[in-house]
Amino acid sequence: MKNKAEQIIIFDTTLRDGEQCPGATLNIDEKLAIAKQLSRLGVDIIEAGFAFASPGDFEAVSKIAQTVGTEDGPVICSLARARHDDIKAAAEAIKPAAKGRIHTFIATSDIHLKYKLKKTKAEVLAIAEEMVAYAKTFTNDVEFSPEDAGRSEPEFLYQVLERAIAAGATTVNIPDTVGYTTPTEFGSLIKGIKDNVPNIDKAIISVHGHNDLGLAVANFLEAVKNGARQLECTINGIGERAGNAALEELVMALHVRRQFFNPFLGRSVESEEPLTNIDTRQIYKTSRLVSNLTGMLVQPNKAIVGANAFAHESGIHQDGVLKNKLTYEIMDAQLIGLTENQIVLGKHSGRNAFRTRLRELGYELTDAELNKAFVRFKEIADKKKEITDWDLEAIVNDEIQQAPDLFRLELVQVSCGSNARPTATVTMRTPEGEELMDAAIGTGPVDAVYKAINRVVNVPNQLIEFSVQSVTAGIDAIGEVTIRLKSEDRVFSGHAANTDIIVASAQAYINALNRLFAASQSKQQQQAVVNN
Ligand code: KIV
Ligand code: ZN
Repeated sequence: MKNKAEQIIIFDTTLRDGEQCPGATLNIDEKLAIAKQLSRLGVDIIEAGFAFASPGDFEAVSKIAQTVGTEDGPVICSLARARHDDIKAAAEAIKPAAKGRIHTFIATSDIHLKYKLKKTKAEVLAIAEEMVAYAKTFTNDVEFSPEDAGRSEPEFLYQVLERAIAAGATTVNIPDTVGYTTPTEFGSLIKGIKDNVPNIDKAIISVHGHNDLGLAVANFLEAVKNGARQLECTINGIGERAGNAALEELVMALHVRRQFFNPFLGRSVESEEPLTNIDTRQIYKTSRLVSNLTGMLVQPNKAIVGANAFAHESGIHQDGVLKNKLTYEIMDAQLIGLTENQIVLGKHSGRNAFRTRLRELGYELTDAELNKAFVRFKEIADKKKEITDWDLEAIVNDEIQQAPDLFRLELVQVSCGSNARPTATVTMRTPEGEELMDAAIGTGPVDAVYKAINRVVNVPNQLIEFSVQSVTAGIDAIGEVTIRLKSEDRVFSGHAANTDIIVASAQAYINALNRLFAASQSKQQQQAVVNN
């Protein structure tokens, strides 16, 4: 990690704060796939999870530390409340990483002290100091966050930060936990910290913020102007409630407007030196991977990574762009890795060509993954004449998706049309290997399929979101289906891609149901441990 004062450090919390949004729950293999991609993207720090939260979280942090936390890879961080057992779990989980960080936090706003912690300011000061010192016994790299800093009394914040730094915090992170501040206020808060915390030169100032008022990115950019050098963000801005500051927006704002930001970082206005270590060409791919695995769709008009972000619809704009791109484009789509929609492979392409193109696109698959993806590729190439880069990405992302393989779809068949009652038949294999078949009538073919599947699996759930998107244009395009369902107040997502959208719909639903089953199985196991 480059730690120069004039560099902006990118701390990615997609796997911790991002995963906290309903339905975004990822399993360990999916977290690992995202962590590997974050490493290719060039983030400096990956907050891999909250190790103490559950055995699954612990294992995920530990596995990411082992696999991605190499000498020249990113720092691997675990969150921990300011408690001994939390910090100990975080320390254990990050141990396999070449560079590990513990991020500990305690709230500092009056409202949190009074209602949540029921502690005095003096108690919070003492805890912050003691817990940072405790974390320091495990690693030199300790980050401290005063939660709800955006609504904390500045004088108290200065004291807590001074004590945390004196106890060994090397990064102090200032969270706008509830997304309440405005850019000018947040910038002043950072300036106040720089001016009033006597030992602030011994730590890096970081910022963390939620997007409740849609101001998180603007707040961070103002913070950079006032001395913040680490930005905590997530891919596609996913996270608690309205989400976190979006990595791609921050990075591209700093890149496209670097002449504006250069002087704040002690550089000459014209300096071309990148402000972050991010490989911007990996942005689009990372966004797609996170969206597919979490089931959190990206809105079409989302800045940088939305489907329309580089599309010009109006005639005046199109005419201008044809004459000179700069008339309406402030950045080249290729900068974020949006390749031309090239036709690269077809049904006669062999395994070698397939592997080579995937490598060129930045995908390094194991032999087993490649074999699975190649079978899918051949199936699709039989139905679709031309396979584009985007199709390849859909195939690979679908294969990387590791919804637990409990119920399996063996067959789905529908009959529908203007004069027919939509009817579906499904054959599924249960986790025990039994083959079950059922049929149902629905309001449409997808409804009929879902009703038939429900008759087989027999678990109450409510479908709350269903979306179909085509990967490329054309009648034979691959359709991607993303669904979210709710069961006992928990949300589970499923995603699948196929040239047949009925098959994709059935598979996406089964993927979500399998996540539901896996979650209830692990709940039962935890309950059994508690009861014994
Ligand atoms: O939003 C927040 O305050 C957090 C902290 C734990 C940093 O996520
Ligand atoms: Zn947060």
